[in-house]
Amino acid sequence: MKIDRRTFALGSAAAMGTLWTPSVWSQVAQAASPSRFHFAVVSDTHIIDEFYKKGTENGVEDNQSILLTTERLVSARSLINSLKPKIEQVFLPGDCFHNYPSAEYDFYFKNRTRIDIAKELFDGFEMPVHLGFGNHDYDVPRVSREMSHQLFAEKLKAKPYSCVDYKGFRFIHLNNFMGATWDKNSGEFNKGLGSLGEEQLNWAEALLQERKPTVVFIHFPLWIVNATEVKDYGLHPMLRKYSDSIQMVIAGHWHKWLDFAHTYGPQHIVTAATRYDANAYMLFEADSQKQTLRWMNKDLVEWSTHYSKPYVAKG
Ligand SMILES: [Fe+2]
Repeated sequence: MKIDRRTFALGSAAAMGTLWTPSVWSQVAQAASPSRFHFAVVSDTHIIDEFYKKGTENGVEDNQSILLTTERLVSARSLINSLKPKIEQVFLPGDCFHNYPSAEYDFYFKNRTRIDIAKELFDGFEMPVHLGFGNHDYDVPRVSREMSHQLFAEKLKAKPYSCVDYKGFRFIHLNNFMGATWDKNSGEFNKGLGSLGEEQLNWAEALLQERKPTVVFIHFPLWIVNATEVKDYGLHPMLRKYSDSIQMVIAGHWHKWLDFAHTYGPQHIVTAATRYDANAYMLFEADSQKQTLRWMNKDLVEWSTHYSKPYVAKG
């Protein structure tokens, strides 16, 4: 093998474990071009505010981590902002903030709440941040889905589900809370399961039919999303059908790193959460001309845990 500066840096980083610094990034990440760019994923930020009641989570780890969510997101954001070549886009597949301190819409316009704090934190990224919805961004049935959508539109400038095209890549934020399983009036109501609803499935299929290199985000891991919703029509067969152009399906929710490999057709990864670990972010290099996606910090992940090895060397 020919050893150049790039392969040397990669080999050193892998051998040394923690020797993975922004300066190494500048050696392993290729320069941006009209078809090549870098993006990051952060998930399950679970931002809180002064109205949050301490000690209301399940267990010590959850009760401690919820108090550190802002600090950990700021740490991840500093690292992401510092990288050169620059990270050009950030995607966040849900649980932007943590639950609703009030079921009254007006409350969110009379007080500075976790939604406003989340917006301020996301605005501190030096690149666009694209949001998806998580279960904690809803409070069905206490708060209607419509009210959550309205708050997101007003305050976070985000739609219930959305698509971003960038430099030849397509990024699709799916919303697994739009279907019957999250409709309190449906016989299928069961918040432990995700579903998209026929309208969103049709929207997603129209986007996938163009077969651009695509990354799909969805809050619930596919394991707990209804495979089919209308007869044999549903997300699982759809992902399989377009697995030639879907480069990866990324979920959050479980807050731990899990690799479902090709169980659902395209590569499916569950990302850990910045709530539990400031190092739990994903960094990618995408090249639409070569139709490739490199997950740059994959080797730092500690699978089946909340944690990743720190990106910044300790000395
Ligand atoms: Fe979460």
